[in-house]
Amino acid sequence: MVARLLLLAVLFAKSAHQLVDCQSISAHVLDSDSGIPAANVKITTSMVNGSQLNYVYSTQTDSNGRAVVTDPNGQLQAGVYVIHYDAKSYFDQFNSSNQNLIAFFPYAEVKFQIDDVTVPYEVRLLLNRYSYTVYYASGEQVATKPNGVASSILNGGGKLVMMMLITLLIARAYLSS
Ligand SMILES: *[C@@H]1O[C@H](CO)[C@@H](O)[C@H](O)[C@H]1NC(C)=O
Ligand SMILES: *[C@@H]1O[C@H](CO)[C@@H](O)[C@H](O)[C@H]1NC(C)=O
Repeated sequence: MVARLLLLAVLFAKSAHQLVDCQSISAHVLDSDSGIPAANVKITTSMVNGSQLNYVYSTQTDSNGRAVVTDPNGQLQAGVYVIHYDAKSYFDQFNSSNQNLIAFFPYAEVKFQIDDVTVPYEVRLLLNRYSYTVYYASGEQVATKPNGVASSILNGGGKLVMMMLITLLIARAYLSS
């Protein structure tokens, strides 16, 4: 029975640990022509290794202009990243018969370095056809992951809730064996 309890504790500690420590990089794109979030912007993330680029992840922004741009289930690596935003295909969707505008910057490419892989990051982009501005924001409050329930439970006081849940489950296993 002790072995069963230990196994349960280890399994829960392990899954809680993975959920807490699995950090990511997110992007937020705002269309500064219209002032609204830029949805469906295609994004490709790579890591720089000398003169080579190592592919990391591809995605596109959601209706809030947000996307997790590293593998949400993978371990974040320290190093230099490049996020490639496909501006041309985003602006092309607004072409009309009397307005056929070319995006002067067909893509925006942003390079940055991260060392601490235990915290989330967010890179924000203000984008229009003729300019773009990029800035860093702490990802603490804003990072969203596809498994939104688990990550929102684990934010803020969520870690306490998770610990209480684990304690309850262990107590239940103890009482029923
Ligand atoms: C980085 O590039 C070097 C030289 O091409 C290679 O030996 C090494 O495996 C690469 N590292 C990664 C993480 O891809
Ligand atoms: C929009 O217009 C630009 C400039 O003429 C052109 O390169 C692009 O292919 C057009 N896109 C669409 C979807 O029609």
